[in-house]
Amino acid sequence: MLRTHTNGELRISDKGKKVTLTGWVQKNRKMGGMTFVDLRDRYGITQLVFNQEINADLCEKANHLGREYVLQIEGEVSERSNKNPNIPTGEIEIIVSAVNILNESAVPPFTIEDDTDGGDDIRMQYRYLDLRRNSVRANLELRHKMAFETRRYLDSLGFLEVETPVLIKSTPEGARDFVVPSRMNQGQFYALPQSPQTFKQLLMVSGFDRYFQIVKCFRDEDLRADRQPEFTQIDCEMAFVEQEDILQTFEGLTKHLFKTVKNIDLQPFPRMSFDDAMKYYGSDKPDTRFDMRFVELMDTLKGYGFAVFDEAEYIGGICVKGAASYTRKQIDALTDYVKRPQIGAKGLVYARIESDGNVKSSVDKFYSQDVLQKLKDKCGAEAGDLILIISGDNTVKAQKQLCELRLEMGNQLGLRDKNMYSCLWVVDFPLLEWDDDTQRYYAMHHPFTSPKPEDISLLQTDPSKVRANAYDMVINGVEVGGGSIRIHDSGLQKQMFQILGFSDEQAERQFGFLMNAFKYGAPPHGGIAYGLDRFVSLFAGLDSIRDCIAFPKNNQGRDVMIDAPSIIDNTQLDELALSVVKE
Ligand code: AMO
Repeated sequence: MLRTHTNGELRISDKGKKVTLTGWVQKNRKMGGMTFVDLRDRYGITQLVFNQEINADLCEKANHLGREYVLQIEGEVSERSNKNPNIPTGEIEIIVSAVNILNESAVPPFTIEDDTDGGDDIRMQYRYLDLRRNSVRANLELRHKMAFETRRYLDSLGFLEVETPVLIKSTPEGARDFVVPSRMNQGQFYALPQSPQTFKQLLMVSGFDRYFQIVKCFRDEDLRADRQPEFTQIDCEMAFVEQEDILQTFEGLTKHLFKTVKNIDLQPFPRMSFDDAMKYYGSDKPDTRFDMRFVELMDTLKGYGFAVFDEAEYIGGICVKGAASYTRKQIDALTDYVKRPQIGAKGLVYARIESDGNVKSSVDKFYSQDVLQKLKDKCGAEAGDLILIISGDNTVKAQKQLCELRLEMGNQLGLRDKNMYSCLWVVDFPLLEWDDDTQRYYAMHHPFTSPKPEDISLLQTDPSKVRANAYDMVINGVEVGGGSIRIHDSGLQKQMFQILGFSDEQAERQFGFLMNAFKYGAPPHGGIAYGLDRFVSLFAGLDSIRDCIAFPKNNQGRDVMIDAPSIIDNTQLDELALSVVKE
């Protein structure tokens, strides 16, 4: 080893030791006859001291060390006169006796410190330098720890990690596939897996019983803060289980991670039906760190001559505790917020509960104090509270708008504390979703999800009413994971494909391998997949999953560091018979 210690290791108890350290120059400052250099590696920072009077040559050398030069130094651990309580090595410094410059460095394009002067774009372009920063490095350390503890927990329960292929077959369900042209089979394409779903089900047919894989998945979809085109799943499947077994096992995994990584003991996770999640929070991933549940107000506010409400399909409100002091200006700003095209509400009605209990609303001319008092009671509001109301001619849309407003109020009132965790299972999802554009049903989770046995008869008569044996794990309003009990009967699977509008030939062409496998003794099975990136960013309190990925893509799906995607040579195109895209 080129070093005896790391830069995060030495303490006052090491005083007098002769040491050799290596690392990068973070800072170099000259103060009178002394030069101080901060030497950094991934373990910390150690201060080096050079004294003009003791060794002028060495001090001169130190004065010329540029930022990010790579050094090996020898010296003696000494007690600092000016201690720094903010870093673990802050009580000592090294009186340097020899400096070996292992490599020079060009001036970095931004400062490699916690508070960097580099903007997002430049840091992404020089991601290898960004990764030297404490905060980014800490996120990757956290990610390692979570992946490691996941393996430890699942291994202890007999799960086997099995790798599944990355070059697979395109399936039109779900998101768009990334495809890879085949040279040896010209005109044909592989697809990169959106998830190892069908393979893990085949492993259950093979008798593997308990499978997991920490695995890259690829989806060509519009990107957001919580979506990357390639991301990582903790993908799991179990045979001979029912939904309850899966919920218990994976609630256990989440609790294990919280305990071992954050030393937090979680309470049993509440369960909420999809219907209740939509009714009370307008979202299938409610942020339950704070209450502020929706109150449906159709009976209370319809029929008093206020056309907007009279014509609405949905009227809902939230009671914001203690917010009656919101000024007109603040409420106007909220109105603008919900009217933004991304949210799309037509407007916002408010009702303030004044200190004497009277209700003052923006629609006073339509409603008597009597009706407004009923509104107050229905919302459980008290003096000092503010009721905010949204209506619309489409229930789901209006609930989503109210959901955005609720989350914004949560932000404004500081109710979404990143150090507080509220976990729950959302269960009883509908099996199918109707799409008006294509006039067909789509699987809400995926086509392999089992209907609830008691709802199977509805598949023929009223498919939209069928509930699925599907579940999502939601933490702080983030869908961390989702899964289902699968169909393991080839007849039912065939029926499901029919409902989804597949002809027998299409189903056979795309999923024949699976239905065929089900003829050979498929056990009852089910599973779940967590989004590892989302899970880590939640633990780290990040706003975007990008910051816990070593080399992420930007919002256009580009890696700006290696400049991908990029064009390829004509020779390559010819080999792949893709000459049609030649320049
Ligand atoms: P699903 O599609 O719900 O289920 O994905 C599982 C979890 O993966 C995460 N996730 C993503 N994370 C980052 N970027 C993305 N683009 C992205 N898309 C999804 C989410 C999500 O909860 N095969 C099924 C699982 C199963 O049924 O067992 C599946 O993939 O956290």
